[in-house]
Amino acid sequence: MSNFDYHHNSLYVEAVSLENIARRYGTPTYVYSRASLTQNFLAYADACKKHGRGSNGALICYSVKSNSNLAVLNVLSKLGSGFDIVSGGELLRVLAAGGDPRKVIFSGVGKSIEEMRLALTHDILCFNVESIPELQRLNDVAASMNKTASVSLRVNPDVDARTHPYISTGLKDNKFGIAFEDAISTYQEIASLPHLQIIGIDCHIGSQLLDDAPLLEALDKIIELVDKLSDLGIDLHHLDIGGGVGITYDDEEPVPVGDYLHRLFTRIDAWRTAKHNGKPIKVMFEPGRSIVGNAGVLLTEVQYLKHGATKNFAIVDAAMNDLMRPAMYEAWHGVLPVKQRQITPRVYDVVGPVCESGDWLARARTLALEQDDLLAILSAGAYGMTMASNYNSRGRPAEVLVDGDKAILIRKRELATDLFALESIPQ
Ligand code: LLP
Repeated sequence: MSNFDYHHNSLYVEAVSLENIARRYGTPTYVYSRASLTQNFLAYADACKKHGRGSNGALICYSVKSNSNLAVLNVLSKLGSGFDIVSGGELLRVLAAGGDPRKVIFSGVGKSIEEMRLALTHDILCFNVESIPELQRLNDVAASMNKTASVSLRVNPDVDARTHPYISTGLKDNKFGIAFEDAISTYQEIASLPHLQIIGIDCHIGSQLLDDAPLLEALDKIIELVDKLSDLGIDLHHLDIGGGVGITYDDEEPVPVGDYLHRLFTRIDAWRTAKHNGKPIKVMFEPGRSIVGNAGVLLTEVQYLKHGATKNFAIVDAAMNDLMRPAMYEAWHGVLPVKQRQITPRVYDVVGPVCESGDWLARARTLALEQDDLLAILSAGAYGMTMASNYNSRGRPAEVLVDGDKAILIRKRELATDLFALESIPQ
């Protein structure tokens, strides 16, 4: 059963009506379902357990960039999640949320000296390194702290993820990772750097993948490398296959997590039996969207209905600064009226108040609306709030976590005064 459903013509998240949330906390507001978050995380965790991977055999490192609210991180941490971070800021969030730094992996092409220091201070599990200069810098920073950094190389398997070009990362001409052909020599280079310890290999080919074929193709290439490295005496403790599978925004039918992991573990088990006397290798994942994407909606209120000669506009109080995905990727998000009305529907573009033609949230949707009605923009839990900005001096939305019949404010709405609090006028 979905955690986002109508009861008596009114849209609920779990046992709380969105109307109630709007009344208490205002709009625009991101609303997340704890039950959905939990179910989505457990889809990965249970599939790992089913294939004999308890906490030592697999680690799910939730991708913090998809939704980094402390309460969300705390829910996942309590379920045993690790975390995939891409900045020092994300590490501080994980720590503030009660996450275990020994389950943190640090991805990203541009780690600064300060970020490396912070991560080494907290003894994170692993740095996913993306270039030779980064390896050298990490070695120097670790040396200056008299520490050894555990590293994995992000290898670029040159596999086409068949997704939106902006979120495809595993092709040769992307800025990410180390080229497949350079991987072996780069691992050999690490062996000569005294403050680095090789522990793994990782890749990430893109996001919103509906089919697992490209992921399994990437896995095969990684397996090939692990074997070559092993022949050279370099043994790895883990392999990390990157982000999770895609989600349904409209009518997409993504591969179910359990099916994908079944195929992945079956391949890995056969390989370990054939080539490594059955010696296990730890498997890590970095899912974001598939855990939080469909666990959240953006709740917004219609300000005006504008009926033009060729188009009708529903002008709402959320905008491109709150949910950037439509403007940035022409992404499609479902739109549901919070109250189901028995009036004649019309076709609307749902747009925000920002002064840009690109400020739209949904186009050509048939909706039965009146002014002041509430709308839920669906599938907004991932890459929604984390990509929000303050363009047009708009405070970012409030965030609410629903848990059964409770709605808890987990981030206050930003005020205009918050936005200029760090600014000053020269005397
Ligand atoms: N690991 C790495 C290294 C990544 O770069 C990403 C996402 C993930 C894991 C998580 O992937 P997921 O499981 O969420 O597919 N802003 C875009 C998505 C950007 C994804 C960036 N990398 C969007 O709104 O669609």
